Amino acid sequence: MTSGTMERVTTREAAGATRTTVVPSAGAAAGAGAAGGAAPAANKMVVSDLNLYYKEFHALKDVSLTFPENQVTALIGPSGCGKSTLLKSLNRMNDLVEGCRVEGSIMLDGSDAYRDVEVNDLRRRVGMVFQQPNPFPMSVYDNVAFGPRTHGIKKRAELDEIVEQSLRDAAIWDELKDRLKKNALGLSGGQQQRLCIARALAVRPEVLLMDESTSALDPISTAKIEELVAELKKSYTVIMVTHNMLQALRVSDKTAFFLLGEMVEAGDTDTIFTTPSDPRTADYVAGRFG
Ligand SMILES: Nc1ncnc2c1ncn2[C@@H]1O[C@H](COP(=O)(O)OP(=O)(O)O)[C@@H](O)[C@H]1O
Ligand SMILES: [Mg+2]
Repeated sequence: MTSGTMERVTTREAAGATRTTVVPSAGAAAGAGAAGGAAPAANKMVVSDLNLYYKEFHALKDVSLTFPENQVTALIGPSGCGKSTLLKSLNRMNDLVEGCRVEGSIMLDGSDAYRDVEVNDLRRRVGMVFQQPNPFPMSVYDNVAFGPRTHGIKKRAELDEIVEQSLRDAAIWDELKDRLKKNALGLSGGQQQRLCIARALAVRPEVLLMDESTSALDPISTAKIEELVAELKKSYTVIMVTHNMLQALRVSDKTAFFLLGEMVEAGDTDTIFTTPSDPRTADYVAGRFG
């Protein structure tokens, strides 16, 4: 884990991006970061007593949840229970929704995401991949270079390196290296989604939010993205919404179950699926509703 993180910082510095303090602050958040022992994972993000309203509608109710660093956390629950709302609140996408009000706190590496972190910086550090692949109508290369360019990186050699590394990290370099100039809209759905992951990685985020990012894909593309997520968690903290119980079991370390805006229960994925403490969780993971 440490070497992966260190590499990431080096890359970020090489890319000329501004943020360089990820590792020390994450380490500090670990608290008793044990001398050589198996210290528990630091919490990359911490949600405390979160209440979110869309005008009068109370969409998230007293949600408290931690997201351990370099782990995959799955958010599960029936449609409309607030999974996407929570995901969007983590990088303040809800700021764009009129009438949306947030109470409580969301911390990123110990800093308040709503008060102490500048919103553009927050969205760079906490990237998002959506349900439908949404590449921009431009070349593969320009899709991946888009974010770095908006952050001021102009040198061709530097962009080339970021594009290649991001496509490699998204496990699609070999498929696309000879098609960098082709329009991204001509790719298959599965390729488009991995391209969107590469585009998200190109600005060197620390947290990756995935909102049902495989639900529009065929089983083979889904399997590729699941494999990719297992690889990505070595360098990133991943938070994924999924309707696929088997996917949550295969991919996630931690699972949180939501119902009607409340977080019913969270814990180790194995525990949530085998011996949950709340009967509603048991019913849901057994497929008895939802
Ligand atoms: N922009 C919005 N304005 C008003 N209500 C919304 C908005 N977005 C979501 N909601 C409502 O909030 C609840 C949670 O939605 P959502 O987070 O999308 O659920 P999920 O992702 O679990 O299916 C739903 O009742 C939904 O209708
Ligand atoms: Mg949703």
